Amino acid sequence: METKIFNPQQENNAIAEAAEILRRGGLVGIPTETVYGLGADGLNEDAVRRIFEAKGRPQDNPLILHVPSADWLERYCQRVPPAAYALAEKFWPGPLTMILPRRECVPLRTTGGLDTVGVRCPDHAVTLRIIEAAGVPVAAPSGNTSGRPSPTTAAHMIEDMSGKIDAIVDGGSCQVGVESTIIDLTTTPPRLLRPGGLPLEALEEVLGEVAVDKAVRTRLAEGEKPRAPGMKYRHYAPKAPVTVVTGSPQRSAAYILGRVQSGDGVICFDEFAALFGGCTVQRLGGASDKAAQAQRVFDALRAFDETNVGRIYAQCPDEAGLGLAVSNRLKKAAGFCVEDAGCGPIFGLTGGTGAGKTSALRALERLGGCIIDADALYHEMLRGENAMKRAILAAFGDVFLPDGTLDRQKLGNVVFRNPEAMAQLNAIVYAHLVPEAARRAEGHELVGFDAINLIESGMASLCCRTVGVIAPAEVRVKRIMARDGIDEGYARMRIAAQRADDYYYQNCTDVLENNEATPQDFEEKALAFFARLIKEETNHE
Ligand code: TXA
Ligand code: MG
Repeated sequence: METKIFNPQQENNAIAEAAEILRRGGLVGIPTETVYGLGADGLNEDAVRRIFEAKGRPQDNPLILHVPSADWLERYCQRVPPAAYALAEKFWPGPLTMILPRRECVPLRTTGGLDTVGVRCPDHAVTLRIIEAAGVPVAAPSGNTSGRPSPTTAAHMIEDMSGKIDAIVDGGSCQVGVESTIIDLTTTPPRLLRPGGLPLEALEEVLGEVAVDKAVRTRLAEGEKPRAPGMKYRHYAPKAPVTVVTGSPQRSAAYILGRVQSGDGVICFDEFAALFGGCTVQRLGGASDKAAQAQRVFDALRAFDETNVGRIYAQCPDEAGLGLAVSNRLKKAAGFCVEDAGCGPIFGLTGGTGAGKTSALRALERLGGCIIDADALYHEMLRGENAMKRAILAAFGDVFLPDGTLDRQKLGNVVFRNPEAMAQLNAIVYAHLVPEAARRAEGHELVGFDAINLIESGMASLCCRTVGVIAPAEVRVKRIMARDGIDEGYARMRIAAQRADDYYYQNCTDVLENNEATPQDFEEKALAFFARLIKEETNHE
């Protein structure tokens, strides 16, 4: 069968033709604000049967009826409670499906044999006009082949359904990106069967208490029956196995970074994309932009099918707002293979010599922090036998001494005169050092990364806060003269070669100024400072 592609923006009669195909019992891919649907006349058993065939969908998985307004509810549902009208008034057209008792006119084939039926009014002008022109309720599951991620563009729809259905209407990419929220209004209290484009919190505002079906957050046991039959199938799944990592964005990024190997796939929030060089990365949107994450999630999952990644790690948002739907789709794609990275704060500290970073670190340690010193870690790794050393060897030749330690002079000769070589060395070091630091942070509730190149290395993106420790130049000169036994001229030269305070104000989330008379006084100040940061970071999570 040849599948017609309609473009309603360019073709005047696209809507009328699509409606005509539906009336004749044909199948049409339709755009909605959530995902593309595979539509047919929901009262026509033959047409509905062909939906199941085209999708390869199990017959017991019911379809949703799409209607143009709440006025149509009584035609297909009975005993419609006032709550249904209250919800429709507030959220239709929109990403909400209501489960209500079915009227006889709705075939059991449509409802998968159930006495209830799901109804929704989609928020897409083109599709509303098609349904009105067709004059029939349009049964439409998501337009994907059963088991694949739902289509959020006409191209996805064509990928799965070309040659199998009569037409596809191109209505652009879907604004919401995850399917509708399904609420069962036949039980008391009403029950959320599937989280979706309308947040649970919005339903609770209208309905009061809402029960959340077990299948939303957990894998059902063998033989256990979900209330939305569709929730039992492994779903939205790319070909490669997926592991979902929960926890704060920084913790889940660190957790994944500590585990991925080159060639793996990663779905991550935008802020962390640069960390995963060597992996195939799909960005999910900003860590706090759940609307973007909902829009992106299926496209991100689908994109991996064109690659041959061996496995996929995915960062998971928290469950507030649209996060519940995004996290549910990711977890279903993973067959509920979920690992938790924790939420304890990681702070990054940086600062020039003599500014007081060591005192600040001591304060963090007194609060129970595990300090990871990047420079010490680098030297430890140089002593061992590992990938970083092999990469240095490959790039710079044998710059190691017979005992295996670094010949600093030899390497220095290469990199100090050549900025490109320096950049290459840094890239190698950061690519190995940052994942190692991430691994060492695991399991510690409170962590401090101590790194001169906190920002440049990418380590900063694993930190919920980055703190620049600064002090007046005069104070620093005196301090390092006393500490390192050097003369004033040399001390000034060393400090002049370092970053100006501006750098810390521009690149760190916080600046800790050391104007105190003694290191002890500064340590006490730092103690109060970190206590406040910890409180702020643990309260909003
Ligand atoms: O956003 C959406 O809802 C999209 C677009 C196309 O409107 N449609 C969609 O349909 O996601 P589908 O068939 O892929 O998912 C419908 C889900 C399935 O999990 C199904 O089991 C459940 O709704 N469902 C449908 N009727 C039901 C009923 N009477 N009782 C319980 N669950 C029902
Ligand atoms: Mg579906």
